[in-house]
Amino acid sequence: MADRAPLPAAAGIGLRTPHVAQVLRERPAVPWFEVHSENYYAEGGPALAALDRIRRDYALSLHGVGMSLGSIEPLDAEHLRKLKRLIARVDPALVSEHLCWSSVGGRHLNDLLPLPYTEEALDHVCHRVTEVQDAIGRELLVENVSSYLGFADATIPEWDFVAAVAQRTGCKLLVDVNNIYVNAMNHGFDAEGYLDAMPRAAVAEIHLAGFDSTGPCLIDTHGTPVAPDVWTLYASAIRRFGARPTLIEWDLDLPPLATLLAEAATAQSVLDASHAVAA
Ligand SMILES: [Fe+2]
Repeated sequence: MADRAPLPAAAGIGLRTPHVAQVLRERPAVPWFEVHSENYYAEGGPALAALDRIRRDYALSLHGVGMSLGSIEPLDAEHLRKLKRLIARVDPALVSEHLCWSSVGGRHLNDLLPLPYTEEALDHVCHRVTEVQDAIGRELLVENVSSYLGFADATIPEWDFVAAVAQRTGCKLLVDVNNIYVNAMNHGFDAEGYLDAMPRAAVAEIHLAGFDSTGPCLIDTHGTPVAPDVWTLYASAIRRFGARPTLIEWDLDLPPLATLLAEAATAQSVLDASHAVAA
């Protein structure tokens, strides 16, 4: 296994099961991969063995989709135990989760639902982030989620809520630029202002993905190329934050690996341009 080192400020891709064999065979020149933690919670088996082989040659980030960080129910001790076991096994550069909730009454919903942006919810989720960071013994990144509704009782703008979680807990931020764009369009706020509110030093990773625009609001499907407006917002984010590890996420209607590599190359060109400006 390669030593754990900070992820390079370069463009990686989300590794999905249909591409694993090709990656093992061809060893594409990708600086890092991100996988969904829960796909590797088994104690053994071929998926985990393949991940071990990939980890020997590539930096890795673990991205969780099932912790239900913002739920009011106790954190799932078994889920945390499996995450800790996976962290110990693959020694990832980063560990992230979503700033959302996805379970109630012991039932899991297959969605990443937004929190009510209130002081009460902020106190609660900060406590939970601290609980998780203590449990895994390392820093967590939290990601802003896309949403299609807001809560009437919300008192805090989403961007201030996200920033406050990082400031209060010392966690880092995974800024999903596509999610900011989707929410800006759906809720009618200024995406550039959202980026301005992010504490620069806390931004440790960026996500890019595609959305569906055929309905009455934008839906964050991870099933299309990154939209031109999102590329523009991404370039703006990199100007603000400096170069950051950037991930291409694609989950629905997964295209050939070459398509993901081409999207990553576009992100890399934005990062390279920022290095050129900095030099
Ligand atoms: Fe994301």
